[in-house]
Amino acid sequence: VPGPTITLREINRSNWRDVVDLDVREDQRRFVAPVSRYLCLCAYEDVWRPLGGYDGDVPVGFLMWGRDPADGSHWIGGVVVDAAKQGQGYGRAMLAAAVEFLRRLPGCTQIALSYQPENAVARALYASLGFVETGEREGDEVVARLELGST
Ligand SMILES: CC(C)(COP(=O)(O)OP(=O)(O)OC[C@H]1O[C@@H](n2cnc3c(N)ncnc32)[C@H](O)[C@@H]1OP(=O)(O)O)[C@@H](O)C(=O)NCCC(=O)NCCS
Repeated sequence: VPGPTITLREINRSNWRDVVDLDVREDQRRFVAPVSRYLCLCAYEDVWRPLGGYDGDVPVGFLMWGRDPADGSHWIGGVVVDAAKQGQGYGRAMLAAAVEFLRRLPGCTQIALSYQPENAVARALYASLGFVETGEREGDEVVARLELGST
């Protein structure tokens, strides 16, 4: 069954209100920070860039990406699908779209992300997209990386 189509849009001064109030379920709050915090990180520091995941014109999710200057790898962080929109394939479609977006950036040969090991849904989703745990840790999170082919 084909999933929904998600379009990624750069989040900026004209559309940040689309995503700022997206929120996860109460029991998922321990896995992520509020989107408002991620937007501040993107606005006030130079590492992360925000993307909204849209179904048509309806914002359903958020993520951000950044390039680690130390090793050149591209990171995905702050992955959120709004509680009301979860379980409908949006998370998978948004991650797949993000991988495609990053893959096209010059010099992007690998994508990394991290998550709390007890976040079973995220962990399984990332693994199914090809992310492999490396044994590295990022605070209380485990790191997984996706090697991109040369095509
Ligand atoms: C992780 C998250 C982004 C997934 O978004 P989503 O839109 O619900 O994901 P999808 O509907 O595309 O489902 C992806 C897979 O997870 C499974 N899944 C989704 N919600 C689930 C749940 N509550 N319980 C069990 N499995 C679940 C789906 O069955 C699907 O599996 P499949 O593709 O193998 O059939 C979303 O749950 C979320 O925002 N969680 C809170 C924040 C978070 O943990 N972010 C990641 C931080 S690293």
